[in-house]
Amino acid sequence: MGLVKTLFVVLVTIGSAYVTYIIHDSLGSDPVPEINDEFWGPGSKPGVIPGNEDETIKPFKVDFTSDLKDLKSRLKLELDSNRFATPLEGVGFGYGFNTIYLKKVLTYWMEKYDFAKREKWLNRHPHFKTKIGGLDIHFQHIKPTKTMNDKYKKTVPIIFIHGWPGSFVEYQKLIDYFLEPKNSEINFEIVIPSLPGYGFSQASSRPGLTPVRIANILGRLMKRLGYEKYYTLGEDWGSLISTDMGILYPDRVKGTHFSCYSFHPMDQFKQFISTIFSPTTTFPSPRARERYLPLSKLMGYSLRESGYLHIQATKPDTIGIGLTQSPSGLAAYILEKFSTWTNESFMDKEDGGLEHKFTMDELLDNVMVYWVSKCITSSMRLYSEAFNNWHTFRIPVTTPTACVIPPEDVVAASEVGLMSKFPNLKHFSSPNSGGHFLSYEAPEVAAKEALKFFNDIEFDKI
Ligand SMILES: *[C@@H]1O[C@H](CO)[C@@H](O)[C@H](O)[C@H]1NC(C)=O
Repeated sequence: MGLVKTLFVVLVTIGSAYVTYIIHDSLGSDPVPEINDEFWGPGSKPGVIPGNEDETIKPFKVDFTSDLKDLKSRLKLELDSNRFATPLEGVGFGYGFNTIYLKKVLTYWMEKYDFAKREKWLNRHPHFKTKIGGLDIHFQHIKPTKTMNDKYKKTVPIIFIHGWPGSFVEYQKLIDYFLEPKNSEINFEIVIPSLPGYGFSQASSRPGLTPVRIANILGRLMKRLGYEKYYTLGEDWGSLISTDMGILYPDRVKGTHFSCYSFHPMDQFKQFISTIFSPTTTFPSPRARERYLPLSKLMGYSLRESGYLHIQATKPDTIGIGLTQSPSGLAAYILEKFSTWTNESFMDKEDGGLEHKFTMDELLDNVMVYWVSKCITSSMRLYSEAFNNWHTFRIPVTTPTACVIPPEDVVAASEVGLMSKFPNLKHFSSPNSGGHFLSYEAPEVAAKEALKFFNDIEFDKI
């Protein structure tokens, strides 16, 4: 890139960062919002809480098999239709999901994916539903056996919170690492909810169910299960929601482990300035420097990878129509993220590198949850809620936190870009492998980073 062009890019960036900075008046921080228990079910009105809610907790089972005829006939119709655009030659996933590879995915889904077996795998631990705020909230609640507990000094509760386009499925491989952890003096009772509007949790009927309000719902869930104090762990939106729980319930959340990122304007500003003047200290890992520097590269990359975010934050329902009707549309839209967010260079591969890190069954398990629950539209609305209501982005999290930034993750996060939002950050770890879906891709890495932090907190070592 020529010098003039570089200068231009730098100036435009400084200009826009400065404007953002002024607009958000980011030297101050917002007060902790007062979130009241609210109702989100059909016919509910803001601030109006109807009478007694049925608080019973009912067993639930994942069902992939009872309505298979419809899915299989759609898959067959779409595969036989000859309506897929031929991808450009040699572009891999560069223009989005490659349709030649997509046909392989769909064929596998139709012919080889063992619906009954996968359903059984997802049902190996108990599932439940309970009504919170007018919504049926689905969750797994998994307790270690007594023999397991005997090996540890203490058994403590934790909630794992997923993001988009994920589901409770993303944490299936992490469970064993927390029931019976290695190098740990504690083990865990685990709660894995589906976010409202995701998987088997009911979606809100009216606007306004922002991440911090979801944090309130999940806080109520933990309370209903009898947990007074607990840990939280999250990825993607789950990072934001798990740290929001620390903001709302500082006396209950003992510590949060999340994927490093801060939307705090001051953090973004600091990271930006630091990247210009001290790129190597901002991004100490060679892979991060290769991916993000010079800054124009980071900007180009951010622009290329954030189109979905703009759509979902503005018109989620329109794109949701095609995705809810068509299994090929749904699989392509979701799995494109599992490709590029797992390793940026997978974009150059004809198969999106999808099966390098996940099995086809693992990939389709998550797609199946979206398919059978018809939740893709409501899941995307979370972007609209979050970006149209700037609730907690500027509120510091004072509870102990630790975060992990895998080298192939989709965001560029640095330690300096986290300070304003996370003044009590205890660990910043950057392992040398893994991408955005770390717990699903490399549960051993995710567990190791998180367990060290939880042990340190539990025994007051930090
Ligand atoms: C990402 O993919 C590239 C090319 O396939 C590979 O060289 C690199 O090691 C991968 N990164 C990780 C962390 O696996």
